[in-house]
Amino acid sequence: MTSPPTTPSGARSEARTGAASASLFARAQRVIPGGVSSPVRAFKSVGGTPVFFKRGEGAEVVDEDGNRYVDYCLAWGPLILGHAHPAVIEATIAAAKDGLAFGTCHRREAELAELVLEAFPWAERARFVVSGTEAVLTAVRLARAHTGRRLLLKFSGCYHGHVDALMVKAGSGVATLGLAESAGVTETVAHDTVVAPLADEGALREVFAKYGAQIAAAILEPLPANNGLLEQTTSWLRTLRELTKASGSVLIFDEVITGFRFGFHGYGKVVDVVPDLTTLGKIIGGGLPVGGVVGPAAILDQLAPLGPVYQAGTMAGNPVALAAGVATLRELRSGAVHAHVAALGERLSSRAKARGVTVAHVGSVFWPVLDGGAVPNRAEDIRDAAVQAFKSRYRGWLDRGIYLPPSAYEVGFLSAAHKPEHVDALADALGGVEGRG
Ligand SMILES: Cc1ncc(COP(=O)(O)O)c(C=O)c1O
Repeated sequence: MTSPPTTPSGARSEARTGAASASLFARAQRVIPGGVSSPVRAFKSVGGTPVFFKRGEGAEVVDEDGNRYVDYCLAWGPLILGHAHPAVIEATIAAAKDGLAFGTCHRREAELAELVLEAFPWAERARFVVSGTEAVLTAVRLARAHTGRRLLLKFSGCYHGHVDALMVKAGSGVATLGLAESAGVTETVAHDTVVAPLADEGALREVFAKYGAQIAAAILEPLPANNGLLEQTTSWLRTLRELTKASGSVLIFDEVITGFRFGFHGYGKVVDVVPDLTTLGKIIGGGLPVGGVVGPAAILDQLAPLGPVYQAGTMAGNPVALAAGVATLRELRSGAVHAHVAALGERLSSRAKARGVTVAHVGSVFWPVLDGGAVPNRAEDIRDAAVQAFKSRYRGWLDRGIYLPPSAYEVGFLSAAHKPEHVDALADALGGVEGRG
């Protein structure tokens, strides 16, 4: 039985039921580890049963019980145009009708590469893969080949997919060789990665003094957005650029989240820092699986078949996925979408502030900090009180038709389909104000 659909007005709805989601989750748990294809979807961080989505329309999703939500997770970021954007759906269907996969060369590879390189003018080549993880894997391998060095430098709080060499956490001390963060990652691999804190110039200088000549690549999210939103100063990013240049290490900006999010460019342009390689994902696939690496020919042309660095994929550059990416980037080119979502991010933050709630934001990427304390810029400074406050309120937001990413450590996103009234209702709900915004 399905309940009548409820609206995401912000009003509390007593009619909501999660019976269908609960039953589907029980079924999935019998055959899939934890019932999920990716761990955070299991709602462990917020408790309760995950919501099973059935349909997405613009800013909204409908679950298997017929409940509607305004979606601020947006598939973890790719859907900057909102769910089922007509131009993206049309392009995807047209491509699918021509065949789902070829495993050969096709026209859309160069089309997407040209669009992406237009946005990253310092780069000369793009190679497409299937996920952000694969993009990072490729960039790291390229950096090691290019430098002939072994060590990687990563920063606490940055996430780069589930690449073994980067599933690594800091040991004791300021800038240390890493320890495995996941079972199954060997200590040998973890020891090839140095882990340093964000926002700490002293630690950065210490790492380069100690390991600089061995570092193949320093990789970071220039706007870290996987452990809250840990905005870094431009001066710290510039110091990292200078130190990598001086030591001959490759600087990789992992822009899987930030690429094309703040304009028709990367976050590197926002802070005026040019890396050696940039990894992309999410938005460049418009909701289908696409990752990418961009950089100068001198590095990218080391990839096979031109060079000795192997990378391949049956589904790499899949024509349907690239069609969705091309359609999405074409919609973004004018900058109108970015202006719209940035204005919404600002509105959300200032309305929440008026309600006594801190919502950190950079453009349209936002992160509620619900314990009333300062916004941190290092993973180590995220307070348990803020995490607990998020967790304790999460179900209440769902009841009001608001779907935020189900973890206090995840950022929220805004899309072209979101409206001022949506973010007003969100700000009110974050501030604990009942009823319509
Ligand atoms: C910055 C960053 N890099 C890499 C990845 C991995 O991308 P994917 O999940 O597509 O493998 C993510 C995923 O969220 C990410 O946020």
